[in-house]
Amino acid sequence: MERKWWHSLTAYQVYPRSFYDSNGDGIGDIKGITQKLDYLKELGIGIIWLSPVYKSPNDDNGYDISDYYDIMDEFGTMADMEELIAEAAKRGIRIVMDLVVNHTSDEHKWFVDARASKNSRYRDYYIWADPVNGGPPTDMPSSWSDSAWEYDKESGQYYFHMFSVKQADLNWENPDMRSDIYDMMNFWIDKGIGGFRMDVIEMIGKKPFEGIINNGPMLHEYLREMNERTFGAHDLLTVGECWNADTEIAKLYSAPERHELSMVFQFEHICLKGDKWYPKPYRVRDLKRVFSKWQKALHNKGWNSLFWCNHDLPRAVSAFGNDKEYREESAKMLATLLHGMQGTPYIYQGEELGMTNIRLGSIEDYRDIESINMYNDRIAKGDKEEDIMESIYQSGRDNARTPMQWSAEQYGGFSKVQPWIAVNENYREINAAAQTNDETSVFSHYKRLVALRRSSDTIVYGDFRLVNESDDDFFAYERSYNGETILVVCNTTPENREFVYRGVAGSELLIGSRQDADISDGSIKLRPYEAVILKLA
Ligand code: NOJ
Repeated sequence: MERKWWHSLTAYQVYPRSFYDSNGDGIGDIKGITQKLDYLKELGIGIIWLSPVYKSPNDDNGYDISDYYDIMDEFGTMADMEELIAEAAKRGIRIVMDLVVNHTSDEHKWFVDARASKNSRYRDYYIWADPVNGGPPTDMPSSWSDSAWEYDKESGQYYFHMFSVKQADLNWENPDMRSDIYDMMNFWIDKGIGGFRMDVIEMIGKKPFEGIINNGPMLHEYLREMNERTFGAHDLLTVGECWNADTEIAKLYSAPERHELSMVFQFEHICLKGDKWYPKPYRVRDLKRVFSKWQKALHNKGWNSLFWCNHDLPRAVSAFGNDKEYREESAKMLATLLHGMQGTPYIYQGEELGMTNIRLGSIEDYRDIESINMYNDRIAKGDKEEDIMESIYQSGRDNARTPMQWSAEQYGGFSKVQPWIAVNENYREINAAAQTNDETSVFSHYKRLVALRRSSDTIVYGDFRLVNESDDDFFAYERSYNGETILVVCNTTPENREFVYRGVAGSELLIGSRQDADISDGSIKLRPYEAVILKLA
């Protein structure tokens, strides 16, 4: 496989609203990110995935864009953005912009014009249809409500939206619309960005009247066209958000010879927990099965992302670890389990500190449109409030969106004033200042994992083999490349466990979650949630 710069680097996702407030208005901003670049350099990452910073009325925190060529007022100016790109480059970090082109805000000038007249040249940039029997054209629900169709009184037609009513879906069948999007992408490429993270990209080939949303017939054709007319001639990273990709579909996106995207960001391991609002426990052997399947299927055939969480998911240590008495241990274990694999790892802001979910008092404290819509729907259906809040505590997106915990100062050092959303009270113990100079911290552990990937071809290119597939106490695997074998062993339980494995005799400890490790001739004794990476003799 041809080597690419994004094969050996680790990415870090910044959710700008909650990262760092440089101007004291309670909202994170672009200058705030620039001021914290040295922290990210220290962590060792080489890529920032920047959640949207474009002009937006913020119905969905920037995923509803009203001007792709301008920056959201609260976040700063285009000059701030150019400065961020340049300052990041000085530190060897490239900025990957969020590309939200399945939909625009209803306040985007295209939609405003389209809505004003059926004869607008932008009318067909969106998806319109006449009522059927006095109601919506089809019974398709949106992701967050009962109907994906919103009635527009002026024109007497419905428009289509897969997310909120303020996020109108673009009509990718319109070639002029596609050209306008490609021009916009080239504008950003010319600014020197490192690539694009493509929001719900699997939806752009949709056939709404046939009930097809994801993986529509034209999806890959559009991506090839986009590649050819925008990033294809540049050495950029492109990553597609694909909830509905199986391994075969992932190869279509990411096989280099197909000239589509660099990699997929797929969620099969996350989906093991079942329904978003009613999650169920998962078994370690199922996690192994899913990871192993992806590792094998994409090896030399495509490229995957590695992640536990993002701005849409609960905190990693709360969802997959033990965020109480073994918070640090299980956070390090989860990191080790993931960062030893093949793919490009994504760390979501605060994950490197072991930040946890939050339980706020009432729905008024929440900001996320998805949680609020779900709450209102279930209240209307007669669900008990405490059950609904429990759903939000477990899975709500605001778990990931509370401010970054920089220090033990008021508001976690995120801002000098009350932030736009509550800070997690545990900031006094869990914060960056307490961890960056502590060799035993979660942060320092992440730092070692990120550095290992930069220096180890075996981690980046080696093949993958599970050890003890059906065992629920350990997640262990080998990676081999050019005669070198690395073994990753994670104790997934809160108890002491002995991992018996002949090959460990004489091995070298590359990374241990507890610094040292108890390795004897044919076994390793691991403490609760302990994880090690060994180079076998
Ligand atoms: C996926 C994004 O990650 C999420 O935050 C957003 O709400 C939807 N797409 C709609 O853009």
